[in-house]
Amino acid sequence: MQGHGRCLKLFLAFALLLLQYTQGGEVDHSQRDTKVSIRCIERERQALLAFKRGLVDEDNSLSSWGLEAQKQDCCRWIGVYCSNQTGHVIGLDLSYKVIGEDYFLQGKMISPKLIELHHLQHLDLYGIKFSGSEIPDFIGSLSNLRYLDLSWTNFGGKFPSQVGNLSNLQYLALSDNDFTNIENLDWLPLLSSLRYLDLSYANLSNVFDWPEAINKLPELTNLTLQGCDLPPPTLSTLSYINSSKSLISVDLPFNHLNTSSIFLWLSNYNTSLVHLVLSYNPLAGSIPDVLGDMSSLAHLDLSSNQLEGGDPHSFARLCSLQSLDLSYNILSGQLSKFVQILFSTCAQNSLEILDLSGNDLAGSLPDLTNLSSLELLSLYNNQLTGGIPENIGLMSKLKTIDFSMNSLEGVISKTHFSKLSKLQSLDLSSNSLVLDIHADWIPPFQLDFINLGSCKMGPAFPKWLQTQKNFSHIDISDAGISDILPSWFWSLCRNVTFMNLTSNQIGGTFANLTLEFSYFPELHLSSNKLEGPIPSVLSKASYLDLSYNKLSGSISFLCSRATIGLSFLDLSNNNVSGQVPDCLTHLENLVMLDLSYNALSGKIPTTIGSVFRIETLKLRSNKFVGQLPSSLKNCTSLVVVDVVDNKLSGPIPKWLGVSLKNLVILMLSSNHFNGSLPSQICHLTHIQNLDFSLNIISGNIPKCLTNLTTLAQKGNPRLNISHYYEISTDQQGFTGDDYEDDATFIWKGGMKTYKSTLGLVKRIDLSSNKLTGEIPSEITHLVGLVSLNLSRNQLTGQITPEIGNLQSLDSLDLSRNHIDGRIPKSLARIDRLGFLDLSYNNLSGKIPVGTQLQGFDPSVYAGNLQLCGPPLKKMCADEKERGPSEQTDFISQEDKDELITLGFYISMGLGFAAGFWGVCGTLIFSRMLINYKRSTLSELGGGCAIRFGLPAPHPLWSLCYKLKAFLAPRGASASVLEADELPLWRRHSYWPLV
Ligand SMILES: *[C@@H]1O[C@H](CO)[C@@H](O)[C@H](O)[C@H]1NC(C)=O
Ligand SMILES: *[C@@H]1O[C@H](CO)[C@@H](O)[C@H](O)[C@H]1NC(C)=O
Repeated sequence: MQGHGRCLKLFLAFALLLLQYTQGGEVDHSQRDTKVSIRCIERERQALLAFKRGLVDEDNSLSSWGLEAQKQDCCRWIGVYCSNQTGHVIGLDLSYKVIGEDYFLQGKMISPKLIELHHLQHLDLYGIKFSGSEIPDFIGSLSNLRYLDLSWTNFGGKFPSQVGNLSNLQYLALSDNDFTNIENLDWLPLLSSLRYLDLSYANLSNVFDWPEAINKLPELTNLTLQGCDLPPPTLSTLSYINSSKSLISVDLPFNHLNTSSIFLWLSNYNTSLVHLVLSYNPLAGSIPDVLGDMSSLAHLDLSSNQLEGGDPHSFARLCSLQSLDLSYNILSGQLSKFVQILFSTCAQNSLEILDLSGNDLAGSLPDLTNLSSLELLSLYNNQLTGGIPENIGLMSKLKTIDFSMNSLEGVISKTHFSKLSKLQSLDLSSNSLVLDIHADWIPPFQLDFINLGSCKMGPAFPKWLQTQKNFSHIDISDAGISDILPSWFWSLCRNVTFMNLTSNQIGGTFANLTLEFSYFPELHLSSNKLEGPIPSVLSKASYLDLSYNKLSGSISFLCSRATIGLSFLDLSNNNVSGQVPDCLTHLENLVMLDLSYNALSGKIPTTIGSVFRIETLKLRSNKFVGQLPSSLKNCTSLVVVDVVDNKLSGPIPKWLGVSLKNLVILMLSSNHFNGSLPSQICHLTHIQNLDFSLNIISGNIPKCLTNLTTLAQKGNPRLNISHYYEISTDQQGFTGDDYEDDATFIWKGGMKTYKSTLGLVKRIDLSSNKLTGEIPSEITHLVGLVSLNLSRNQLTGQITPEIGNLQSLDSLDLSRNHIDGRIPKSLARIDRLGFLDLSYNNLSGKIPVGTQLQGFDPSVYAGNLQLCGPPLKKMCADEKERGPSEQTDFISQEDKDELITLGFYISMGLGFAAGFWGVCGTLIFSRMLINYKRSTLSELGGGCAIRFGLPAPHPLWSLCYKLKAFLAPRGASASVLEADELPLWRRHSYWPLV
């Protein structure tokens, strides 16, 4: 949760930035207007018009370009720059910076007439989409080019190695295109004037001698090869070193570099390097010594590698270091020792950014006041203990403090903040801290990002918050607040994008809530004591969790048009009542709806069918009547349907199986559903949890159950059932998150709720109905079943001898039917069986002797008058003599139940090893998610922070690509971090010079 609002924040700041750039564009324009006297050359004008014909200009952004008389002077066309001496076109810049962020140009082809622009020095087509076509060969003929930017242009096919002919090039950016693998960089050394090179996201995985090619560029200062699948330099290429010493900035994240060879290569540039990014590589071992020789280094980013140890002595000689990012490594040892070594360096006065988050650093927080320039201090997600030293309050340059997710304890007082007037972002969440601050305290800062989740500050609502006028993110969950929600609080929340007040005892009503939210905020208000009706103002939330409160009244706020932004709505465990209004037509973005445990009545409204993105629908424990509305079949994304414990009636609809093919959990129990089970149910190939118990369903159990393919497979690669959803924050921004489903059902005789392991639960429960006929033997194909409950029906016939195929079964309940015959021997071979109930049937004969059937309590077999043998006292006629020995057997089995149950969990774990990516993917995913939320726009824009190491069809990929698509035309690598509104993250700026 915790990086969440930052992400929203990034987008806000981004929007701001866009504004600034648009304004910048206008300034350019007026400057051009002053050059009235210049007329362009006709041949070049024709070439430009031909070039325009190769573009798709739906927004008419090139309206200044044309044949008309008043548009004669092509030097005045937008994006065209002429020499003021010769009148020749020397520059063509149609990037977003010039034409503006609202316009999207697309390309069909680059007209060959372009080569008529012999004098062209500067060509920038950044962000114009050419949908996969190849860059034409004649690009190599524009021999005067000094500056060429074709990034994000969606060119594909063969890499345009003819750019190697452009011997005057100083700036070359071809990043984020879709070229096929680059076979070699032989063309590169021809560009002897090159200063800036960006080939990010081109595939260089076969180019083992890439360092050699780079070494041959004597003027190169800036090198960016993000996500190029770069192999580690081979030693043979390293032995050839005849390089310049010019490299200032090296940016190589998301590659396959290893510690020894990359630093060996970089040591050629020891004295020149200022900026070095090697994040997201598999760099391992301790922090390399050679770093200490990079005497000019100002920005170092080694985050998301596997560096270990806790001895940063290599930094001792880095006197210019301003920003150090070692987050997400496996650094260990005492933080105090680590910092002491940093102190001993001359960098202590220059260091502005120190990010050591996501490591294993331990011990208490040392005195950090010597780091006198520090603006950002991030230590979150380490193993820190003890208190926070008061003198942190003296570090007056601090803008961002993040100590979250440690084991810090003790009391925070106003002294801790005494001089922190620049503080914008404060995150102390997920520790055991107590905030002891007087109600009259006026803090020296105005925070934007407040995350004090789990810091105890109650019982009164913290009054000092009233002084904070600008926050966009606030989390004071689990803070021990037991008070009425003050009305002034809402008035401060107009611009919030994220609010979390969960798990307090906050009471009162929403009566004073009149403000209009500026954005579509995420509001987490669950587990409090809020009362009264839900105001329509809250319908503007994108995420609204009001569960576990005491809210009442109707839910007519759902009728507001503003609900269009709502993705997640949880009103469960309140006391809302009345009908669900039949007006759900605006909820087109809703993914999760939980109205469980309320007093809602009437029919489920037909307009539920308009909520077509919905994946989780929970209406449990209300008083709904009537049938499931057939419009529900439009909701084809549904994964979870839980309408347990209502008064719904009618037959189980056939369309459930036909339309809702994605269902994983279908729980209809405790209603009045009748009729027989439709065979269409068998189309639910993803179903894992099918519960029709406690209804009045009659007829046979369909034989087609074999088709339930997920139940017919053992184990599951996914531990939980999670959903990704998007949240729009304003018109332009969006972010995403995911939630995990939970489900509650009878498990081994008791009500249990599963969440984090819900993905492992595979069960069928048809108990307490009026089913007749035999148990189809086909059911034994469902070898993934962990629980099967057919009890309390009128089933007849025998237990199929193949029952033993259900090797995953942990729980089997066939009690209270009319089943006869013997208990099949194979049942005794289900080692995992931890719960069994066969009571009250007509079973007969000897209970098979096996590993554990004798271990169950005799009540399991009760009511079967003709059963005999242990554990029943009644001995079988032919075996009375041998009784005692079996008796011993039985005793030795006695306490096996628990073990077997444990075995189930262990075996679940083993099932997982098979789906290795499932687990690992999830772990990496969470880590990546955290990183994603914390990463800069430049990283996201420059490619995709998550591109590394995830199996392809992953929810994050779609996010990633959407983000990419969103940022691309807008100049993705804009360094938002330089914008002062934001907490400082990292300082990357690759903004090309015009
Ligand atoms: C022509 O451009 C040069 C630089 O490119 C500038 O210094 C000079 O002032 C310009 N001359 C006129 C007349 O605008
Ligand atoms: C090259 O790198 C330096 C150091 O990071 C940076 O200041 C400069 O803006 C970069 N140049 C370009 C063209 O991006």
